[in-house]
Amino acid sequence: MRTIDWVDGAIELIDQTLLPQRVEVHRVTELPQLIDDIQRLAVRGAPALGVAGAFGVALIAASVQAEHGDDELDRDEVRRQAAILREARPTAVNLSWGVDRALTKLDAGAAAILDEAVLIRDEDIAACISMGLRGADLTRELAAKDRVSVMTICNTGSLATVERGTALGVIETLFEQGSLIEALPLETRPLLQGARLTAWELERMQAPFRLLIDSAGPFLLSRGIADAVFIGADRIAANGDTANKVGSFSLALAAQHAGVPFIVVAPESTIDMRTASGADIEIEDRGVDEVVGFGGTRTAPAGIDAVNPAFDVTPHDLITAIVTERRVILLSRGETLESVSLESLRS
Ligand code: MRU
Repeated sequence: MRTIDWVDGAIELIDQTLLPQRVEVHRVTELPQLIDDIQRLAVRGAPALGVAGAFGVALIAASVQAEHGDDELDRDEVRRQAAILREARPTAVNLSWGVDRALTKLDAGAAAILDEAVLIRDEDIAACISMGLRGADLTRELAAKDRVSVMTICNTGSLATVERGTALGVIETLFEQGSLIEALPLETRPLLQGARLTAWELERMQAPFRLLIDSAGPFLLSRGIADAVFIGADRIAANGDTANKVGSFSLALAAQHAGVPFIVVAPESTIDMRTASGADIEIEDRGVDEVVGFGGTRTAPAGIDAVNPAFDVTPHDLITAIVTERRVILLSRGETLESVSLESLRS
């Protein structure tokens, strides 16, 4: 089942807020529904947000066309609504990338926009396969082992993409190739994308894994529990600094301390050459409520304040390598996003 798709004139997506208890598909026919689904993380994960952005523009164009009934699409109205969608969440560059890429077909009309969005979906599927293969080869090479244990954070699997995933896609590939000893996902406070979503995916693929509480990750790396750490990314700046789920930075510090490779796995669409460094990346703060309670139960005293950055930034000098569908950039060996050219897609 695809995490997000275009089905009979609307977007269908798995409502991730209900997992792992229930698998429910939410049908999205209007822009406000899509924005709400993005903001409450019914659909989440950078590549999935890119596809949501592109399908969202297709939805907008179809509804503007239907409302006005003109032969000519009201392009200003499509642009106005697309600008609202673009801002639904700020950190993952894929959302604005998907919106902008779909908008490049605006002059060609609503059908051409939908075709572009479908192409983005298909490219995402192919990219995940390619990242898995590149990432698995690289991991065995860096770890100098045929079988490895890997730590990861958040959810970077099929639920964060259309199918298969980025960092979790590498773990799945290692598993299929007989190279996975075990995966070690962190639970990922406060919304538990690791415990709810990654554990659900690993169980479905029948891969060996053990779930860790977030604060155990760095310590267990120092004890040699993993041969590598894989993370996904929400935005990679031009200098390689990488925004990803909060907790990634601590894992990178610990990985360096333990001498373990720290590998970022993300599609080219997550690289934002217009953002010079991590300091320029806007980090979404999701507010007090997610910190002071969970699932409707309050866990902290009433009335207290909290800070809740959804992401952090790992400086490029803590990153061993970035794996995309078209290249491997070995930052630890002095390579940069500018010095390593794009190869053709591997699949
Ligand atoms: O807040 P979320 O769940 O959207 O955060 C997702 C992440 O941080 C992922 O690691 C990132 O988007 C990469 S997904 C392949």
